Amino acid sequence: MTPATRWLLTGGGGQLATAFENLLDGEVLVAREESLDLRDAVAVAAAVRSFRPDIVLHTAAYTDVDGAERDERTAYAVNALGTRHIVAALHGTHAQVVSFSSDYVFDGRKGAPYVEHDEPAPLNAYGRTKLAQERETLAWLHGTVIRTAWLFSATGGNFVKTILAAARERAAARPAQPLRVVDDQVGSPTYAGHLAAAVVEALRDGLGPGIYHMAGGGACSWCELAREVVALAGLRVAVEPLTTEQAGRPAARPAYSALTTERAVPQPPCWQDGVAAVMDELLDRP
Ligand SMILES: NC(=O)c1ccc[n+]([C@@H]2O[C@H](COP(=O)([O-])OP(=O)(O)OC[C@H]3O[C@@H](n4cnc5c(N)ncnc54)[C@H](OP(=O)(O)O)[C@@H]3O)[C@@H](O)[C@H]2O)c1
Repeated sequence: MTPATRWLLTGGGGQLATAFENLLDGEVLVAREESLDLRDAVAVAAAVRSFRPDIVLHTAAYTDVDGAERDERTAYAVNALGTRHIVAALHGTHAQVVSFSSDYVFDGRKGAPYVEHDEPAPLNAYGRTKLAQERETLAWLHGTVIRTAWLFSATGGNFVKTILAAARERAAARPAQPLRVVDDQVGSPTYAGHLAAAVVEALRDGLGPGIYHMAGGGACSWCELAREVVALAGLRVAVEPLTTEQAGRPAARPAYSALTTERAVPQPPCWQDGVAAVMDELLDRP
């Protein structure tokens, strides 16, 4: 990676791509779905060959976990085949592909934070398509997979923003009404800005091919994450625990999918620092 590095950034407009856009030096081509649908192999080949990237930061994905349960075919077409199209277009070059995967490739039964060599066993369709994406990425000699988790940022839709909006509504109701949030799923919430910075630092240090875990340090449940958001927003709303069964979502989710690493790679700060950073942005605090 040099000041002249040519970056192809897929997933433009998404949480992670927006965080990267703010950090990258050099020539950056931001690919958005409306101008480059990764399911179109011919269009992907044409875009890659004309831009000639040194590094593809492949953040684009079908990320709707419950939607994938209803339509796995579409999720697979974007996540696995889209990645295959990028890799195929790079044949004959030395370009690196950095692809982003998920804690949802694990079944959550380990009961301790997952490391890179733990065996994936996805519980849901989204996780299966992300595992397939990993395999497509690693089929490339210069393929790097970064598994992350529970991403949030000031851009786009995510759990933190949903909770903030819901808590404001409940706080305004008379009497104020509680929020009920799932408390029996634990993971590693990750601020997209922190992840992007850790990835750029890792690439500067020469991050090679293979699998790496990079997620916010520590672990918490969705309920604990919601309580942190409500507290930092200064809202007087009770956040009460809900079980996964009571939530009744279409896709099964792992009960414990915190990530940690056994590799020497930069890591995002702890999840509480990530929430503080995004809340400063969302509440427009300097
Ligand atoms: N979000 C999380 O909690 C989480 C957790 C673990 C891992 N990850 C992984 O981290 C990466 C980044 O996630 P994110 O939260 O930044 O995702 P995001 O905000 O949902 O952004 C994904 C982007 O991909 C684009 N996209 C979807 N289908 C496409 C297609 N057919 N062709 C081209 N672009 C397409 C979307 O465009 P449209 O909006 O126009 O559809 C969107 O801009 C993904 O690989 C995701 O699977 C995310």
